[in-house]
Amino acid sequence: MTAEKDWIKDLIIYQIYPRSFCDSNGDGIGDLPGILEKLEHLEELGVNALWLSPVYRSPNDDNGYDISGYQEIMEEFGTMEDWNHLRDACHQKGIRLIMDLVVNHSSDEHPWFEESRSSKGNPKSEYYIWRDPVNGKAPNNWASVFGGSAWEYVPQRDQYYFHYFSKKQPDLNWASPQLREEIFSMIEWWVDKGVDGFRIDAISYLDKPQDFPDSSLPPLPDGYAFPDCLAGRPGTHAYIQEMNRRIYAPCNVLTVGEVSAPTTDELSNYVNTNREEFDMAIPFVPPMVEIDTWSPEKLKNDIWESYQALKESGWWARFFSNHDKPRQVSLYGDDSQYWEVSAKFLAMFLHSLPGTPFIYQGEEIGMTNLKLSSIKDYNDPDTQNRYRQLILSGLSPEAALARAQLESRDNARTPMQWDSSANGGFTTGQPWLKVNPNTVKINVAAQRQDPHSVYQCYRKLIALRKGCSALSRGALSFLETGKATLIALSRSTETETLLAFHNFSQEHQEIPTALLEHAGEILLSSYDRVGGYCGPTLRPYESVIFRGKDGTGTQHN
Ligand code: NOJ
Ligand code: CA
Repeated sequence: MTAEKDWIKDLIIYQIYPRSFCDSNGDGIGDLPGILEKLEHLEELGVNALWLSPVYRSPNDDNGYDISGYQEIMEEFGTMEDWNHLRDACHQKGIRLIMDLVVNHSSDEHPWFEESRSSKGNPKSEYYIWRDPVNGKAPNNWASVFGGSAWEYVPQRDQYYFHYFSKKQPDLNWASPQLREEIFSMIEWWVDKGVDGFRIDAISYLDKPQDFPDSSLPPLPDGYAFPDCLAGRPGTHAYIQEMNRRIYAPCNVLTVGEVSAPTTDELSNYVNTNREEFDMAIPFVPPMVEIDTWSPEKLKNDIWESYQALKESGWWARFFSNHDKPRQVSLYGDDSQYWEVSAKFLAMFLHSLPGTPFIYQGEEIGMTNLKLSSIKDYNDPDTQNRYRQLILSGLSPEAALARAQLESRDNARTPMQWDSSANGGFTTGQPWLKVNPNTVKINVAAQRQDPHSVYQCYRKLIALRKGCSALSRGALSFLETGKATLIALSRSTETETLLAFHNFSQEHQEIPTALLEHAGEILLSSYDRVGGYCGPTLRPYESVIFRGKDGTGTQHN
C-alpha cells in the first residue's frame, strides 16, 4: 500500500442501511434527511467514516441493490441536494463518506436495459448478456442467487438475458468496452462530487465464461445449480485492475470489495497490494453457511491465515455484521441471559484485531434478531427463496420458518432502535419492516445515559483504538491457552503492547498464569457493570484488554 493510502488504516467505518436508519417525514422509510438528523450519533460514537448502502434511484426489488439511475437519488430517500448536505455535514465532522457501488448488475428498469431489451440491433444491445435459446430453453442450468433460473426470456429479442441475482437485476456486460467507459465515467462523477471511497458490491462475477457451460454442482431443490466457474475468474481481476488504474489509484479513494472468496488465496488475489485491486475486502459467506460452520476455533484459524497472508502487503476489513447477516449477538453471542456481556465481548474481540473495524447500525446497542411469525412478514427476496427451496426439499413449513427466523437478512434490517416508544423513534408512521419490540429495553436513548451500556463500550473501544498505535498498527500474535474457546492475543508495536483475553463460551475459564504475568493495567472489561475483571477466571463471554507490562507478546500456537 502506498504511503498516501495509509489513512485507510485509521478508519472506523459505520455502515448505514438507509431504509432502516431514521425516517424524517413519517412515510415509514428511512431517508437522507433522517441520516443528517442523526449524524451526531456517529460523531458521539467517534467513528470517522460512513458507508451508505445504496441510495440511488431504484425500484427496490432488492432494496437499492438494483439501480435504475446511478447519478440520481432514490425518491423515497430524498434529493441530490439532501445528499450534498449530508456529504458536507460528514466532512465538517471529519467523517469520510463511502458509497456503495453496484456495477455487476443494474435494475431491469435502468434506461440502458430498457433500450438493450428492445431489439438486437440497438446501440445498447451489448450492455447486457444476451444468449439465444438452446433447444427452446435457457442457455444453461445455472441457478440465480434469489431462486429459479439465472436466465430470463425476452420475446422482443427472442433471447435470454443473464441475471445472477433476481430477474430484476440483469448483469452488465463488462466485456463491452463502451459499457466499461460508461461505468468508469459514472464513478468519476461521484469522485468529483467528493466521495471518499466505495464499497463495491458482488464484484467477483464481472467476467463470465462466454460459452456458459452447464454447472456440474448438485442442483438445488428447484432443479437449478449454482455456477461452478463464475467467481474470481482471471478476466474479473483484469477488469478490477483496469478500474483501479483508471479511477481508484489516481483519486486516492478507499476501495472495499465485496467478494466471493472461500480461501485465503482467493481473498489475497483481491487485496494483495502488489496486484493493485482493492484496499480491503468483505468476503461474502451465505448466512446459513456461517451459522452451520462457525466456531471460535475456525474464526481464530481464519484470522491467523489471512493475517499471515496479508501482513506484509495487504489489509483487512473487520466485521461481524452487515445488512446481509443475522444480528451478531444472536449469531455468535447470546441474545438472552448474556445479552449485554456477549454484545460487549464481540465488540472487544473484533476491535482488538488488526484491520479496519466496521460497525453495522444497531450493533453498537446490541440489537438482536427478530423472529417474525409468518413467512409473509419477511421482505427479503433471499429469505423467500430459501424458504421455497426448503419446502421443496421436504421440510415442514414450521421448520422452514424456524430456519428463516435464524438466518434471514431481515434480522439486520429491522429499524434502528432510537428510543423506547412503539416504533423505536424510527418513524412517526408505519415502519416498512417491523420494529423489534425489545426497543423498550434496547435503544440508543437508554444506553446514552448508562455508563455501562453496550453503546458506551463501543465509544471506549473507538477512543482506545484512536489513541493506541498497538491497536491500529500493532502486530498480532495469538497466545496458547490450551482451550479453543479461550482466545488470547497480543498486539504490539516497538513501543507498546496490549493483551486481550476473550472467553467464547458460557463456562468459566481460567487464564493461564504464564500469560497473566505479562498483563499490566486493565483498559476495558465486558463485565464493567459489575466491577470489571477480577480474574484469573473469566466468566461467560468475559473479555478483558490489558496494557502489556513488557515487550512483545510472543508465540502463536
Ligand atoms: C450483496 C449485497 O450486500 C446484497 O444485499 C445484495 O442482495 C447482493 N449483493 C446483490 O446486489
Ligand atoms: Ca421517509
